[in-house]
Amino acid sequence: MPATCNVVVLISGSGSNLQALIDSTGTDNPARIRAVISNRADAYGLQRAEAAGIPTRTLDHKQYADRESFDQALIEIIDSYDAELVILAGFMRILSPAFVRHYHGRLLNIHPSLLPKYKGLHTHQRALQANEKEHGCSVHFVTEELDGGPVVLQAVIAIHSSDTPENLAQRIHTQEHRIYPLAMRWFAEGRLQLGQAGVELDGQPLPANGQQLPN
Ligand code: GRF
Repeated sequence: MPATCNVVVLISGSGSNLQALIDSTGTDNPARIRAVISNRADAYGLQRAEAAGIPTRTLDHKQYADRESFDQALIEIIDSYDAELVILAGFMRILSPAFVRHYHGRLLNIHPSLLPKYKGLHTHQRALQANEKEHGCSVHFVTEELDGGPVVLQAVIAIHSSDTPENLAQRIHTQEHRIYPLAMRWFAEGRLQLGQAGVELDGQPLPANGQQLPN
């Protein structure tokens, strides 16, 4: 059994990914979610954390003069939990370069597209408009380029002619709940690393679009 790995999760909203992460932790998983931090006091994910007995904090970005001072306060809270891994799970704030550098190689995000396609917002609508045959979601290490960091893991789904942005969002969420817990576990088990040449799993480099999770 490897040593445990302290995880802090950042959220802004519903936290369905947070729930999947919580549900995946158990005795055989070395990941331990030590705290959940939200920039919004009304984020439903805070209630999910409380129901699971996980400490929560709210840090309102509107109380800070600028992004840098908010991010510095965030770093201090995260580090007070001895976080080894920081997970962004629907955290709707762009993080400053100083924050991203501080957590280099131990900061993960999930994005609802098959990166590098469709960085940014409205990914489902854009995939439909482009007549894509496939869509999906990606877990990636965070770098200073928004949604541009090295990809760890992707789940791919077929787009059906009847799909709408709303039901695609639902289908993608289901896939997110499969891949995020897996990536957290890999990291916590010491199997996942961001090396000089990119993402490594068990010491082997992963392809540029990461590991593909079969359906
Ligand atoms: C997910 O779609 C994720 O890809 C994006 O934010 C959303 C968070 O959803 N980064 P939830 O709060 O986990 O339900």
